[in-house]
Amino acid sequence: MDIEDFLACQKKIIDKALNEFLPEDSSPEIIVKAMRYSIFAGGKRLRPILILSTYRTTGGTKIESILPAACAVEMIHTYSLIHDDLPAMDNDDFRRGRPTCHKAFGESISILAGDALFAKAFEILQKTRTSPENLVLINKTLSEAVGIDGIIGGQVMDIVSDSDSQDEQLLKYIHTHKTGKFISACMVIGAILAKAYKDEIKACKQIGDILGLAFQIVDDILDVKSSKETLGKTTGKDEIQKKLTYPSFYGLENSIHKAQQLLSKSKKIFKEKLKFRDTEELEHIAEFIVNRIY
Ligand code: IPE
Ligand code: IPE
Ligand code: MG
Ligand code: MG
Ligand code: MG
Repeated sequence: MDIEDFLACQKKIIDKALNEFLPEDSSPEIIVKAMRYSIFAGGKRLRPILILSTYRTTGGTKIESILPAACAVEMIHTYSLIHDDLPAMDNDDFRRGRPTCHKAFGESISILAGDALFAKAFEILQKTRTSPENLVLINKTLSEAVGIDGIIGGQVMDIVSDSDSQDEQLLKYIHTHKTGKFISACMVIGAILAKAYKDEIKACKQIGDILGLAFQIVDDILDVKSSKETLGKTTGKDEIQKKLTYPSFYGLENSIHKAQQLLSKSKKIFKEKLKFRDTEELEHIAEFIVNRIY
């Protein structure tokens, strides 16, 4: 399996659905422009891809029926990026290969575009074709992962901490919350929608937690090692802004080692707890998360 081809193909499916859920001719025009500007700037679409792949891996067969959930998580992710880039947050002017939303549309509109994407996500999520019980469950899973017990909790501690901190637990809290729990929720949602066995949903959560943490460690590593051209976002900023990151705390080499260890740990769970499923696709995504260069 060629992972790059696979990801490109999945991205096409997701982008087509996103375009349908957020049509160009919606109004007010200015906010829809800003929302679409950030959504369609690019992006790996990793979170929706994780929903689709986990769904398939755990027995789901009707991809069409779960596209609303996949689009919802991409909208939430994009909202989190727009707000993360604001001058009051990380103050970034480049994202997904183009000027950030607030550079293009101003701060007020970009704040509102983020808010609007967040609300749209939960509106669209309800269109997922599944049982009422599952719908309740995915609403709960997603809202928990993006609020104070997830993205917001992590972002708050990211903002109020800095690299002078000697607190290993705090660093882990930031990474698991601002990034990990949301990624994990995507795998859990995929498994719930496939009506996977309880033990399998639990295994997906364990793997998602591990890969979610690994994803943010690699994001930190790439901020040190990569370039603006490759990433489509500013690099070297974590050190300038004294962010508490894995490289700032453990050093670059140890951080790379930790990410690889997490990959091995996830592989073990695939083997032990999802042994009756064909996990090749998900394992390739796990490798991509840790070995990616963008
Ligand atoms: C960047 O996420 C922000 C983090 C949570 C680390 P991605 O690396 O998934 O960004 P896109 O969607 O590909 O632009
Ligand atoms: C952001 O982490 C995580 C979010 C919840 C958006 P970063 O601040 O490290 O993400 P980048 O590097 O700006 O994409
Ligand atoms: Mg940030
Ligand atoms: Mg940032
Ligand atoms: Mg970063």
